[in-house]
Amino acid sequence: MRNLLSVSQVSKELFYEIYQTALLVRELLRKGEKKFPVLRGKCVVNLFFEPSTRTRSSFEKAGKFLSADVINISTSQSSVRKGESLIDTVKNLDMMHPDVIVLRHPCEGAPDLAQKFISASVVNAGDGRREHPTQALLDCSTLTEHFGSLKGKRITIVGDIANSRVARSDSILLRELGASVFCYGPSTMMPRVVEALGIKRLSSFEEVVEVSDAVILLRIQLERQAAKKVFPSIREYSELFGLNLKKLKMFKPDTVILHPGPFNRGVEITGEVAYSTRSLIFPQVEMGLAVRMVILSLLCNRLNKLKEVLL
Ligand code: CP
Repeated sequence: MRNLLSVSQVSKELFYEIYQTALLVRELLRKGEKKFPVLRGKCVVNLFFEPSTRTRSSFEKAGKFLSADVINISTSQSSVRKGESLIDTVKNLDMMHPDVIVLRHPCEGAPDLAQKFISASVVNAGDGRREHPTQALLDCSTLTEHFGSLKGKRITIVGDIANSRVARSDSILLRELGASVFCYGPSTMMPRVVEALGIKRLSSFEEVVEVSDAVILLRIQLERQAAKKVFPSIREYSELFGLNLKKLKMFKPDTVILHPGPFNRGVEITGEVAYSTRSLIFPQVEMGLAVRMVILSLLCNRLNKLKEVLL
């Protein structure tokens, strides 16, 4: 695999290879090992045109733990501010011979466009509303570890589905792994083609409670909403679609809660739920680092070397 642009590039077999390797990586990280000579001599560029905490810092850590050189470019302090285009930016960076460019951009398809002009591999770290493939890999890895297998599991994605690249990537990979995917949220936050994505829309919170083995809550993407209001008030959204401890108790005792972060406390999730024993939100973040170490190794043709270090 030269680039990771969409999670649809990841077959079930490749997912299990990434997942199993990530578990071994995480085990070593937990033991305090933080230097793996796998990407020595390689260079990773983090190029983020949108804010990020988890994705950017975990790719930076992943590169550094694997002994790569890592360059972080904040577009607010780069020549993008002077009007340089995406293509000109990546072309200039490519002339410095990086091996991987991790790209987050507000426009759908930006990573696909960028990779056409450069020799370095491109990782899509989130492009607009379209895809966030490494988020899907870490979400499905977290769920696979929790359940053993996703075959036959029923996963409900709740919230701003229309604006969510996480919903899109998660639903592709969850279905590849044999899970059934449902969604729930205000009509104004549902894409018209939700059924075409293989996702079944639920019409009440009671249905969500009844069907879900896991619930993935989504942040309301205020930055992607047009001027029109898509719900009357934050308070009403929270009452109808948010999750608090009282509502959590209505689910089966083994239903788990995920959120890609950052979460809006008191809007789609309360702090008590996020920090409860039913929440996998922080294990997701830890899994994200391990998964991204595997992805960088894979794109640099060093997956076997990583496996040698792990065994
Ligand atoms: N989940 C996620 O992409 O978080 P960041 O925006 O902080 O990277």
